[in-house]
Amino acid sequence: MKILIIYDSRLGAVEKMARLIARGVASQGDCEAVVRRVPDLGDTNLSDSGDPFASLEDLTECDGLILGSPTRFGNMSHRLKAFVDSTSSLWLSGTLVGKPAAVFTSSSSMHGGQESTLLSMHVPLLHHGMLIVGLPFTLDAVKKTVSGGTPYGASHVAGPQNTNEFTDEEKTLCKALGARIASLAQKLGK
Ligand SMILES: Cc1cc2nc3c(=O)[nH]c(=O)nc-3n(C[C@H](O)[C@H](O)[C@H](O)COP(=O)(O)O)c2cc1C
Repeated sequence: MKILIIYDSRLGAVEKMARLIARGVASQGDCEAVVRRVPDLGDTNLSDSGDPFASLEDLTECDGLILGSPTRFGNMSHRLKAFVDSTSSLWLSGTLVGKPAAVFTSSSSMHGGQESTLLSMHVPLLHHGMLIVGLPFTLDAVKKTVSGGTPYGASHVAGPQNTNEFTDEEKTLCKALGARIASLAQKLGK
């Protein structure tokens, strides 16, 4: 099973989350995490992680999808939105229908719009007919967290300088999200 993780990141927090989520994917036997960043739009604010740029072919080949974006005024970033808006041909062909999907974000402040960002990312995935997966309250870390980690997806509170360390709950929930999508993709089969 190939689980595709596509992220946008400028300062590196969302990129770090992508790596934690990839570890969760890899914890499930037979599952490979394919990590991609959103394509360059020619602006100067793209992190240079060296990960390949995401393509429509990646989406066609994946068995599950996990999208990550920094919180931008309570919404996903313009770069992730531009990539999502390039997927009309896959919408027409129904390529993503029935595949499991989840989302993650990082913001500077605790109540700075993480949940609205996560929900905004769910919307186009629903248009694509994907099966939206979150994080249930049966996970202890969802109940206990006083930082990031929400029922709508994984999150991180990066702080005003984007320097906060990841809390144990944030790390646990990133990995749990990857593991959940991978195990669901296995159950759904090809
Ligand atoms: C244009 C812009 C808008 C932002 N909007 C928000 C916001 O609404 N709420 C918030 O808490 N942080 C906001 N931030 C801060 C980022 O979400 C935060 O620094 C995030 O951790 C960056 O992720 P990255 O390190 O992957 O780039 C904004 C940053 C920028 C540049």
